Amino acid sequence: MISTAAPKERAFLVGAEIKDSDQLMDTADSLEELALLADTAGLEVVGETSQKLDRPHAATYVGTGKVEEIKALAEETLSDVIIFDDELTPRHLRELSKRFGEKVRVLDRTALILDIFAQHASTKAGRLQVELAQNEYRLPRLSHAWGHLGRQTGGASGRSGSVGGVGLRGPGETQLEVDKREIRKRITILKREIEELSEHRKRYRVQRKRSRIPVIALVGYTNAGKSTLLNKLSKSDVYAADQLFATLDPTTRRVVMPGERVCLFTDTVGFIQKLPTDLVAAFKSTLEEINEADLLLHVIDVSHYNAGAQFESVKQTLKEIHADNIPTINVFNKADLIEGDIDETRSLLADTDPDACLISAKTGEGLDELKDKIVETLFEKMVPIRVRLPYSEGALIALFHDQGIVDFIENGRSDVVMGGSIPTRYLMEYQTFETNGRRE
Ligand code: GTP
Repeated sequence: MISTAAPKERAFLVGAEIKDSDQLMDTADSLEELALLADTAGLEVVGETSQKLDRPHAATYVGTGKVEEIKALAEETLSDVIIFDDELTPRHLRELSKRFGEKVRVLDRTALILDIFAQHASTKAGRLQVELAQNEYRLPRLSHAWGHLGRQTGGASGRSGSVGGVGLRGPGETQLEVDKREIRKRITILKREIEELSEHRKRYRVQRKRSRIPVIALVGYTNAGKSTLLNKLSKSDVYAADQLFATLDPTTRRVVMPGERVCLFTDTVGFIQKLPTDLVAAFKSTLEEINEADLLLHVIDVSHYNAGAQFESVKQTLKEIHADNIPTINVFNKADLIEGDIDETRSLLADTDPDACLISAKTGEGLDELKDKIVETLFEKMVPIRVRLPYSEGALIALFHDQGIVDFIENGRSDVVMGGSIPTRYLMEYQTFETNGRRE
């Protein structure tokens, strides 16, 4: 049978090992991940190369000799696109495009991730956030042809990829200036729409808080198995695919836990090392879901050869979004793929992280223990706390008396300082009122 599918675009990958950089993965692993990203974006990887550098070259990222070598390799492998495993500056993109010539296009990791996000965003919020990130990325790079992948795939980058010619040129304005003006206008509109949606979600979250149902957010590296776990826990059908970033919008499910305790579980976007800065900013409202959670389940693909680096990378992003103080259970997933003695892995884990769970979201192994651990952490475990509560926070003062153990209480003129312990599930509600010092 003759295939009618269009041939895949051929991609050549370029990595760099930068001296003293805080990169978590080594260059080979990072390139392997880039290859997976390229595959997810529908490209065929035909070759790769890398270079050790003290620092990125100001004009061409890699050294001049390397540029020539890459050009020759790309020609030899009949590549259509050269992808750099980092975020390139506008100058890098311009210079490299000039040197590689018209036959081959230059992309960076950020553009690739943005394109995948554009293909996968399914809700209005997701689409707006991706379009904002794409416009922020494009604005300083406008002289460089953009939208190649997007045009082909019909992703959001394709829809917004032809800004040229949209606006009317004012006196003395060049086409480039017109284009930039149009993008800025679009950015303002997108930010406003995202803000409106975010306000709406905030109101919804306040309602959810009032109902006092604990919210558990699943976080983790892309492809760790978050959606599969949520499916299994709620017996629903959240989309799970062996692709990077299959989930882009938070999905929330209500789950009845042991002891008839009700919890809300919310799935979040997968993390990845070198997550583009524009994207982190654009996905602020999605990430807010994480910040509002009472408990995080950090899902880790224990079978992945790079599980350690992925774990650290997620921790780093959680820190960046100030979510590193939320109580967290580490959930080591894909236990069914562990080769060798699983009990050995289990006892090793128990020694290093006694609160961790080893599960298989696929087979259901370990899920009962996980549920018990969640209930224990949220409902039974008490955590010490000291708070200064203004009298206007009557509900929180009452809650402390009802559900917590009050060790001491000092009434002031406008507020009260309370010390003691409360169940973990209320910890985040008191977060903004925590105090360690004495009364001034
Ligand atoms: P993102 O949407 O990229 O953040 O991914 P995710 O973390 O939601 O992962 P997802 O649930 O989509 O799972 C990724 C792949 O891993 C799918 O092919 C799943 O079938 C597979 N998977 C998930 N859990 C397990 C498991 O316990 N065992 C095995 N063998 N495969 C699993």
